[in-house]
This record gives sequence, C-alpha cells and structure tokens, in this order.
Amino acid sequence: MDERLHIIGGNPLRGHVKISGAKNAALAIMAGAILAEDEVLLDNIPNLTDVQVMSTVLNSLGVNTKFSNNQLLIDSRNINNYKAPYELVTKLRASFFILGPLVARSRQAIVPLPGGCSIGSRPVDLHLKGLQALGAKYKIEHGNVIVSAPKLEGTSIYLDYPSVGATENIMMAATLAEGTTIIDNAAQEPEIKDLANFLTSIGAKIRGAGTDTIIVEGVEKLNYSSTYSIMPDRIEAGTFMIAAASNGGNVIIDDVNPEILQSVISKLRECGVSVEIIDKNKIRVRNGKPIKPVDIKTLPYPGFPTDLQAQITSLLTTSIGTSVITETVFENRFLHADELRRMGAQIRIEGNCAIIRGIEKLSGAPVRATDLRAGAALVIAGLKAEGETIITKLNHIDRGYENFEEKLSQLGAKIKRISIKTESNNSLSSRKRELVTASNN
Ligand code: EPZ
Repeated sequence: MDERLHIIGGNPLRGHVKISGAKNAALAIMAGAILAEDEVLLDNIPNLTDVQVMSTVLNSLGVNTKFSNNQLLIDSRNINNYKAPYELVTKLRASFFILGPLVARSRQAIVPLPGGCSIGSRPVDLHLKGLQALGAKYKIEHGNVIVSAPKLEGTSIYLDYPSVGATENIMMAATLAEGTTIIDNAAQEPEIKDLANFLTSIGAKIRGAGTDTIIVEGVEKLNYSSTYSIMPDRIEAGTFMIAAASNGGNVIIDDVNPEILQSVISKLRECGVSVEIIDKNKIRVRNGKPIKPVDIKTLPYPGFPTDLQAQITSLLTTSIGTSVITETVFENRFLHADELRRMGAQIRIEGNCAIIRGIEKLSGAPVRATDLRAGAALVIAGLKAEGETIITKLNHIDRGYENFEEKLSQLGAKIKRISIKTESNNSLSSRKRELVTASNN
C-alpha cells in the first residue's frame, strides 16, 4: 500500500506543538545499551521506523527489547551474537553504531559496511581508525567489517573530522578499554552529550562530552541498571520553527532547549522572524512580515545544522531577495532543490552552494521525498504553496518525524495521509482475479 501526504497550502500554523525525543540520541543510546550488563529503561523514545529497525538489529544480537508508550526496555544480559544482519544494517546506517559497543562487550564483531545514501558516500574510515587505535584489528570481507579485539587499551585519538558517528563509536568502545582514552577534535553535537550521560548512568567514566575533547576512563563493566530519558529532538524543533516562520505562523514549541538551537534562532531572526524564548524549554516563533534573504553555511555543531538545511531552503524560496546556502558537511544534500523547483522555486546549484532567488509564491505540485530532511522541506513548502501538494515516498519522513501530520493538523495545517492501491497492488489483484477465473473455467 502506497501512502501520500495531501497538503492544501495557505493556513498559517497556530498553537502549541510538543517535540518528541531525539532520533539521533535514541539510536546512539540504543546501541550503547549493548554495553549494559543490567536492564535499562529508556524514556521519551520516539516511535519511528528507525527506532523499530534498530530494535530489530539489537534483537538479532540476542538483546531483548520491549517498546510501549515511548518507553523502551532493553536487556543485553543474554547477548549471544556478534554478527549483525546484512539486510538490517544496510537499511539503517545508524546501526553501524553497534560496532564500538559490540567490540567492547564481545571483543569481536561482524557488522556490514553501511554504504552510502542519497546525501553522500558516508565513509566510516574514522570509526575504524579509532577502533584500531584502541587495539582492535579489522578486515573488510564480502561487505562486512570483521573486527577482533582481544584487548582494548586506552589511547589518544585525533579525529581528522569531527564525525558524530565516529566520536560515538569510539567513545562507547573506550568505556571498557584498559586505561584512559582521549578523543581530540571530537564532534560536539548535543546528542553525544546525551549518549555520554546515558553511559555514565550505567557506570561509565566520561568527561568533556559536548566539547571537542572527550576523556574516557575505562572500567571493568557497566552494570548499573538505569532509567534514562532521552533529550528532545532539536532537529524536529528546528523543523517546526522554520515551518511556523515560513507560512506566517505563530507557534509555541514545547520541550525544546533554546541553548542548543542558537544558530537556528539567530538565522531566523536575521530573516526578520520573531523568535521569543519563553523559558528554558519553550520558544515562540511568529512571522507576519516578508522573509529577508540570508546566507547560511552548514557546519558541525555549534554551527548551523546540516539536518535543517533543506528545511530553511524551503523557507528562503519565498524571501524578498537572493540567499546562498553552502553545504559543507555532506557532498550531495541538495536533492530537495529539484522537487522545490517543481513548485516554482528558483534555485541554482553551483558545487556545494545553492543560490535561492526568492519568489512571491510557490505553487502546489506532486513531489517526491528523496531523503528524510528533504521530505520535511517539501512539507514546509506545501504548507505555504498555492493549491495542493502531494508528497510521495513517505517512508523517508516516517524515519525521523513522529506523528508529523497529526502535529501539523493540530496547528491548523490542511494535511492528510492518504493510502492508495499502487499499480502493482492493482495489477496483482487483477492478476489474482484472472487466475481465479481461469481456475473456475
Ligand atoms: C550523524 O550522521 C546524524 N545521524 C546525521 O543525521 C547528521 O546529519 C550527521 O551526524 C551530521 O550532524 C545520526 O546521528 C544517526 P558524520 P553521521 O559522521 O554520524 C564524513 C538525519 O537526518 N565522515 O558526522 O553519519 C561524512 O562523509 C541524519 O537525522 C568521514 O569522512 O555523520 C560526512 O561528510 C542525516 N569519515 C561528515 O563526515 C567517517 O568515518 C559528517 O558525517 C565518518 C564521517
């Protein structure tokens, strides 16, 4: 069954929206739970397809998981397999984050190389270099990384690039190494701090997470049981802030930490949008004026997040001037430009820059989500376009946004999810009819 979003543009978003738990913190912490030698209960876990796939990966290792009401119980006490299933890891890149914890816990691991995706080739050389520095040996055979580490020893590691995943994999492996590990030029994303806080709650000794130098003091085992609540999703929060700004809305965003959204807040203010910090976890975004053009460069945290680049591109398609967005994190993250052009956007791509000439109005059109954040960008565009926008390939959006259309409907958006029989379903059913008729003759 195929599903599509039908959006009728023009209704400014109004009201309150509560942000769900952070996908990118949840996935890393779920991997980190492999290290736990007692049960852990994770709270504020978003109900997303990526979380479901990650749970299945954990189950394939002998880790029990139970999800209900945004709580996830994980029991790694009987972990009995160190070979992750090919079809699952290639389906969810983030499942590569199990490598570090698996090597630390089982001293060996066989994990498929995650491969690239639509936004880039996504190499994992920094992950492997870091594990090697800790004493692990690896080889790549038949698409799998085969790692063995009879012993992990603390050491100093400099990351050539502040990779989020590499920082997380190395930090998790280092928790059970002998001695102290220093990770220099570490990624500083808030999700890394959330992961470190979780690992500390089960007994790890970590300092400096959230800065560019992380110090991990290896311990024997991580056997504290823990109940840990995941941080709210700053990218979902940013998505709603931009959506409210983009269609003249007035929205209060609940359960958001303004301190970790400084780059987004300042960029929206530069566009002339009113962003009011109501208290330590509430922001009001209001906009009734023309959007001013701005130049943006995506950077590792605390720079402007690459995961909000597509969304703010949608906002800028109807600004009163020309904006330039430079994407420095991924090499192919402008796939949303083609789809936005179908809605009338004037976007020219030159290398890793998108030049966006603002137009009066977008017009609704049938468009396709090419990746998770591009899908969100098309929803933002549809909410302000003239007429109807139909978005397909919703599997991308369902990976990272919990109850997306319900939250938008509650803010006054005219949006609904329609399930339709696809051609293949129809031909299949007519084929079945033929067979039944044939067998009745
Ligand atoms: C995490 O991906 C996030 N995913 C991404 O969010 C996010 O865009 C990215 O960090 C950057 O913030 C999860 O946390 C599950 P990286 P990750 O390693 O860890 C290069 C979303 O939309 N690199 O920081 O894969 C790489 O090619 C997703 O929620 C190497 O060269 O990102 C890329 O250009 C999309 N070698 C850059 O670093 C390596 O070994 C950033 O990648 C690793 C990375």
